[in-house]
Amino acid sequence: MKNLKLDIRKSGIDITPELKDKASAANALLESGEGAGNDFLGWIHLPSSITEEQIACIKAQADKLRAKADLIICIGIGGSYLGAKAVVEAMTDPFKLLHKDQKEPTVVFAGQNISEDYISQLMEAAREHSIAAIIISKSGTTTEPAIAFRLIKAEIEKRYGKQEAAERIVAITDKARGALKTLSTQEGYPTFVIPDDVGGRFSVLTPVGLLPLAVAGIDIAALVHGAQAMEQATGKEVPFEENPSAIYAAVRNALYNGGKKIEILGSYEPRLQYINEWWKQLYGESEGKQGKGIFPASVTLTADLHSMGQYIQQGERTLFETIISVVEPDHKMVIESDAENLDGLNFLAGKRISEVNAKAELGVQLAHVDGGVPNIRIELPKVNEETIGGLLYFFERACGISGYMLGVNPFDQPGVEAYKKNMFALLDKPGYEEESKAIKARL
Ligand code: PA5
Repeated sequence: MKNLKLDIRKSGIDITPELKDKASAANALLESGEGAGNDFLGWIHLPSSITEEQIACIKAQADKLRAKADLIICIGIGGSYLGAKAVVEAMTDPFKLLHKDQKEPTVVFAGQNISEDYISQLMEAAREHSIAAIIISKSGTTTEPAIAFRLIKAEIEKRYGKQEAAERIVAITDKARGALKTLSTQEGYPTFVIPDDVGGRFSVLTPVGLLPLAVAGIDIAALVHGAQAMEQATGKEVPFEENPSAIYAAVRNALYNGGKKIEILGSYEPRLQYINEWWKQLYGESEGKQGKGIFPASVTLTADLHSMGQYIQQGERTLFETIISVVEPDHKMVIESDAENLDGLNFLAGKRISEVNAKAELGVQLAHVDGGVPNIRIELPKVNEETIGGLLYFFERACGISGYMLGVNPFDQPGVEAYKKNMFALLDKPGYEEESKAIKARL
């Protein structure tokens, strides 16, 4: 697969025939639609099902928002937030706002917390901009985005009036159910549908991810194209030895069964930091159940070598790491020679920064492997829409395979309800009277 190479040579895992058969069977089970959670398999052939018309329709809506606003607020949480956030971070110059002549609209996120400071500061900053909003919630009832949306909707209506608000607010939600669907119909918002059979954390290639990304000026056709290529490269008919998702799933399961309970995803490119966050949700929610599952953690390197590096090198030996390694940066910068050499860095003179980064990566890999931390390496030739689209699908497919290998339903998340029940009881939400009495008695 030209856009992604998987290297498991430093994982310490030998692929046995049993392991290979188990991973291949899990992949076949995914495609057969006969496994647990089979009503949420719409993501499997999602990339190849996306039509040019759908892309054009999303782009047209994105262009309308871009023409109206220079600040677009995307409201959502979990799977209705992390995919877009991850790709925006990967594809956007982090110093964009420092360029005085920059004209691209800025995409920011809200509704992923209940912080009064966060939303207040965002609203305050928003007052200096022309704004629009995308509200994303599959259930249409999630509290965090609903609170943020109530505030932002009121601000938009106050500034532009109700009629214009319907031109500046787009909803992405279920086709028929939920408060957001009802509200959008009543207010006349343009609406995109999240398919019934695609769960939140697998929804980045639906309008949930694609509309915010198009608004941010990201080439969504190339992103989808990269995912389509990966869909082909990971299908059940692809031999195990050539299927990166099956191999990754097999190796991480073998490591888990050998006592490595924590997987650290890391990269030497800070722009991939939110890919880590997206991945943590994908794997944490899919596998962490029934008292089982690898705990997904993450680092950004080399920064975290100066914080987490000590633990990784010498702490509990329950870790393995997966490194996303980028071969070629977008920019070129060489370290120059200095006549005085007071910092002693002339041994690096003439080298590109990326050469130093690559040597850091190699040195760390060897040190961690020596220290008992197996390493899986995912190599991307570059960071661009195609490679990121491929990477997202690679992880999704591997997650489905891995969950079935672990023996769980990778497509539900019954555990996330527990906090909601307590929160609603504590807030006296109608319908929670009994729970409210019970929880208050515990305090
Ligand atoms: O993966 C999931 O299903 C969850 O993380 C959801 O995406 C998250 O809870 C947000 O849900 P909703 O889109 O219904 O607001």
